[in-house]
Amino acid sequence: MTAVIDSPTAPGDHAARRPVLPPLRLGPVTIPTPVVLAPMAGITNRAFRRLCREFGESAGNGEAGRCLYVSEMITSRALVERTPESMRLITHDPQENPRSVQLYGVDPATVRAAVRLLVTEDRADHVDLNFGCPVPKVTRKGGGSALPWKTELFRGIVAGAVAEAEPYGVPVTVKMRKGIDDDHLTYLDAGRIARDSGVAAVALHGRTASQSYSGQADWSAIARLRETITDIPVLGNGDIWSAEDALDMVARTGVDGVVVGRGCLGRPWLFADLVSAFAGGASRVRPSLAEVGAALRRHTVYLVDFYDGDEHRACRDIRKHIAWYLKGFPAGHEIRHRLALVDALSDVDELIASLPADAPWPGAPAEGPRGRAGSPRQVALPDGWLDSRELTGESARIVAQAELSVSGG
Ligand SMILES: Cc1cc2nc3c(=O)[nH]c(=O)nc-3n(C[C@H](O)[C@H](O)[C@H](O)COP(=O)(O)O)c2cc1C
Repeated sequence: MTAVIDSPTAPGDHAARRPVLPPLRLGPVTIPTPVVLAPMAGITNRAFRRLCREFGESAGNGEAGRCLYVSEMITSRALVERTPESMRLITHDPQENPRSVQLYGVDPATVRAAVRLLVTEDRADHVDLNFGCPVPKVTRKGGGSALPWKTELFRGIVAGAVAEAEPYGVPVTVKMRKGIDDDHLTYLDAGRIARDSGVAAVALHGRTASQSYSGQADWSAIARLRETITDIPVLGNGDIWSAEDALDMVARTGVDGVVVGRGCLGRPWLFADLVSAFAGGASRVRPSLAEVGAALRRHTVYLVDFYDGDEHRACRDIRKHIAWYLKGFPAGHEIRHRLALVDALSDVDELIASLPADAPWPGAPAEGPRGRAGSPRQVALPDGWLDSRELTGESARIVAQAELSVSGG
């Protein structure tokens, strides 16, 4: 990978460097570089985590290159039922350290059972709980980002997960949004409840559910949470597209670490930049199109392994990444179109070979937002959900169905 020293004033990347932040401590687990790959359904499977991890490690000196790479969300019910897909999703590479799993759930007993499965069978070293999902089919049943509104239900899920995990030395963290909408913010209460329930850290995506992915993430809310929750790490999430954005978030919010999602789409080498930046270095990866093609190929090969040798499935999966990898490069419409229809690794090879390999990193056109954007909307909620922060009989019945409505993530 082509690395450049970005800043003309930088004394060189090997000069004495000072880490920007200390390692992230999640209970007994230490993450040397306090950067987290955000859980992303359909994206952060074992293959993509490996790619990001390898880039991160390539920039760090051994241990220093270690970050936290979270799985895509796994429905606790599906896990308890040991569906083949959820069992695939919780599988880690032997090199993954720590092995991190994100769970989604609405029923304290089911979430507890899922955590119990993970810890008693030694399948995870870290469990993250997802309270940020804004998808209507989830919030309509009171799940995801609608759930922290019901404070006792939220407490029950979090405390139950911690009670199962703690004896095994497995830290539990919570990932959440600011709230349902600007009139129904939940993050400060939820942060306090999570801390009092024994979580090792809380991560905040600075948007409400009603914002979906639109507008700008509110980093001032992240700063506010940091000021409110002083005794466990607070992680900031939302709109980090470059290593500079990550440093900026740390400077502006005081967080103990950052969570990066869409910035890595088609840019797994962002982890090399992040590891370098958090070590105080100025080296940044600016790949040529040939290098991007090599990363895309490596991603496909890892997906073939993830899908047990099924090239067709791996190729169907890689198709959604193509536009992200090629963003800003002079790859014509026809080749993009053909790449988006690949069926076998040999197709991928043939098409990569036909790209103008010597095309350099295009700069600004390749940077900035990718992936989901969406527009603001009214959040779908069960009838009467906002009337009270307690879970009443009818709401309880609706919530119990929420877990059944999501599969695999
Ligand atoms: C395709 C996609 C899938 C996502 N899936 C999950 C998920 O499974 N669990 C979760 O907590 N958040 C999920 N998210 C939200 C991200 O983890 C993250 O909070 C959000 O994208 C904001 O961070 P960013 O601006 O760095 O992308 C998903 C986001 C995207 C774009």
